[in-house]
Amino acid sequence: MARHPTPLNNTFDRRTFLKAAPVLPLAAAGALGLGSDAAKADTPEAPGARPDGSEFPSGFVWGVATAAPQIEGGASADGKGPSNWDVWARTPGNIKNGDTLDVACDHYHRYPQDFRMMADLGVKHYRMSIAWPRIYPFGRGQVNQPGIDFYHRLFDELASHGISPYVTMFHWDLPAALEEEGGWRVRGVTDAFAQYADTIVKAYAHQVKHWITLNEIYCFTRLAYGGGDKAPGANDGDAVVNQTYHHALICHGHGVRAVREFGGAGAQVGLTDNSGIPVPVTETVGDIAAARSSFVRENIRVLDPIYRGRYDEKYLSDAGAAAPKFADSDFQLISLPTDYLGMNVYTGGFVRAGGSGGAEGVPFPPHFPVADSPWLKLNARAMYWGPRLAAEIYGISRIYITENGAGYDDSPPVNGEVPDLHRLEYVRACLRELRRGIADGVPVRGYFLWSLMDNFEWQDGYTRRFGIVYNDFKTQERTPKMSARWYSRVIGGNRLV
Ligand code: FCB
Repeated sequence: MARHPTPLNNTFDRRTFLKAAPVLPLAAAGALGLGSDAAKADTPEAPGARPDGSEFPSGFVWGVATAAPQIEGGASADGKGPSNWDVWARTPGNIKNGDTLDVACDHYHRYPQDFRMMADLGVKHYRMSIAWPRIYPFGRGQVNQPGIDFYHRLFDELASHGISPYVTMFHWDLPAALEEEGGWRVRGVTDAFAQYADTIVKAYAHQVKHWITLNEIYCFTRLAYGGGDKAPGANDGDAVVNQTYHHALICHGHGVRAVREFGGAGAQVGLTDNSGIPVPVTETVGDIAAARSSFVRENIRVLDPIYRGRYDEKYLSDAGAAAPKFADSDFQLISLPTDYLGMNVYTGGFVRAGGSGGAEGVPFPPHFPVADSPWLKLNARAMYWGPRLAAEIYGISRIYITENGAGYDDSPPVNGEVPDLHRLEYVRACLRELRRGIADGVPVRGYFLWSLMDNFEWQDGYTRRFGIVYNDFKTQERTPKMSARWYSRVIGGNRLV
């Protein structure tokens, strides 16, 4: 077909979708307060009656995602050291409304209730992160045993509900002591990370089988040191920023190495990237080729080292004097084979054939639909094109969508309901695109909705809620939104409803 100039291997049989769709299990229906009539009403239409193909492959991994600094609170509980974000947030003017991470969702103390709620929603897979400053309060040196013990209890609690963890080693909360040494600018961070990765993989090898090394290198390097709005809010030049990328890539390599050395049987690992996603205006050969070349240009600095074991020559020559300093041997670590790529997919920009390089971006016009998070243009086709281009270009055979969702300033519940149809409809549109990609052979094996509950949204503080569960930050009362109830049915039926 003209839409698919480079066909992907079909990794499962389309006929698997035509099997009768499973119905929401009665237990889950009960947990949602659905009586048997309601459960019956939830029965899918007869197979074949749906032209859109709403089922997902059997075994598809459905989950929700969070990150330690955004939900845990307990900022100095049980010996935890401060993170760069703790410090950054306590400086007035950096975070909306002067919000801090001190309490967040108080998940540090409330995780048993939160996991019960997840289980009630039928969630079986959970992406979360470990707080480095809980394990090493000063970034390296002496392990903080209470921090280690906390996650042992947490993983046990998850297991008691039959929920499997997908654990991110680093989701932006660098120990403040390391930030003071220069943070990601200095190579010393890689030794500290290696020690941290070894420690947590050894400690939790019997409880964790899916690891993610780093979350979104672009955000904690470029946006943190190159004039963005992430901690530590530095405004360094390209040479420094390129070096922070390189150190992050080495840490990714150490994360993979640690899992191979200490992860035990069946342990798997990969990076989570927020690749820039170009979406072809029309799905025709010319615009698709433009999207492909734009994808390469935007993501080459992270994905080439990992998948090709080197920096792209053009990237280096374009960077000139600002190119990162590296040793050739660094790439032995950086390009250690991984088991999957995690992709965070929220939005994408439009491109078409044309311009001097054969591809040109098409700017969003005013009034293009956008979430309340102003960066989140509602471009659901990114969910098709992101994974497809990554898989085609880099030959990746397994992808998880490790985040997707939408940030809105939801109103508090009325009569126990938060009718967040904007979020529900956008996620639904994204899942349709994901389903389309899978049917075309794009090897996506799972999807994690960001986020389980409203939480600390970095520089936006407690505005821009991304949860499918509403959190009242004063009382810590959680209320599943309409999107949570809908997503629960998607999980239960393994299909769009
Ligand atoms: C991603 C981050 C995640 C969350 C979402 C909305 O960039 O990984 O922590 O804040 O954006």
